[in-house]
Amino acid sequence: MTAAPAKAQTRSPSRADALARVAAALVESGVEAAQAQEESRLLLRAAAGLTRLELTMSPDAPLTDEQSQRLSSYAARRAAREPVSRILGARGFWTLDLAVAPNVLDPRPDTETLVETTLALIENRDAPFSILDLGAGSGAILCALLSEMPGAFGVAVDLSPDACAATRANLTRCGLNARAQVVRGRWGAALNGPFDVIVSNPPYIRAGDLATLDPEVRLHDPALALDGGADGLACYRDIVADLGRLLAPDGLVAFEVGFDQAASVAALLGASGFAVARIARDAGGHQRVVAARPVQPRS
Ligand SMILES: C[S@@+](CC[C@H](N)C(=O)[O-])C[C@H]1O[C@@H](n2cnc3c(N)ncnc32)[C@H](O)[C@@H]1O
Repeated sequence: MTAAPAKAQTRSPSRADALARVAAALVESGVEAAQAQEESRLLLRAAAGLTRLELTMSPDAPLTDEQSQRLSSYAARRAAREPVSRILGARGFWTLDLAVAPNVLDPRPDTETLVETTLALIENRDAPFSILDLGAGSGAILCALLSEMPGAFGVAVDLSPDACAATRANLTRCGLNARAQVVRGRWGAALNGPFDVIVSNPPYIRAGDLATLDPEVRLHDPALALDGGADGLACYRDIVADLGRLLAPDGLVAFEVGFDQAASVAALLGASGFAVARIARDAGGHQRVVAARPVQPRS
């Protein structure tokens, strides 16, 4: 009697082996090494439904076939330079967990500087302020402000129907939809003021620079959310031109700006009757936010 051939053993990889494999693939595709390490952990945890602690405590446990396949699919998408937040469909912003929708700008950590600066310049966060968010995208800024200002009401405007739907979804996700309205339109054209607070992170990339952006941005964020015209300032000009009509005389306007645009945006505001209240830097040290108030008429 001849012995039956040994059955080929296909052992599932351990969590640690899978992590090393995914990190190597991401580095190979152009992701920076430290970022690849961090992102491979995030993708593995999502694919296997693991907490940070579970992954740290049991790195040698094997992945199931299903987890392994899911991780491979996530890794292939990330290697094609899709951002992790889009693969997982969510990202943390401020204290919130927001959904990230296709064809809508993925909110960035830098934009938390706009939230922080706005809140720092508001004396009474419990006041029944009206807030206008121009170019709301995912609704990140408005959701963050409303979450910190329990008496406030917000209006979000965006030209993109996908962005309006994303803002509505995130307001609901954060339990804030009773205190907000979403309007599809061109900046403030369809609205009447006055608003106590106007915030905006408009598109500010120079048109000529769009082709040079990282693939994560160029291939996944919509052009409508990025293109700021020839000098990057076109949207600020449009918005500032309407501020006198939309902002309360004692109101506050705060813009996110490109890393080299603070002086230009401050000059635009100055020429239209607004005095700069603060220019704030982001975590990377760039001037990221310009906040201003209407110049008070002398009595
Ligand atoms: C840089 S994104 C900011 C999104 C979001 N506020 C954030 O910070 O993550 C700019 C947004 O402005 C919107 N937008 C562009 N042109 C617009 C216009 N003329 N009127 C209203 N919204 C516009 C885009 O659709 C996009 O959602």
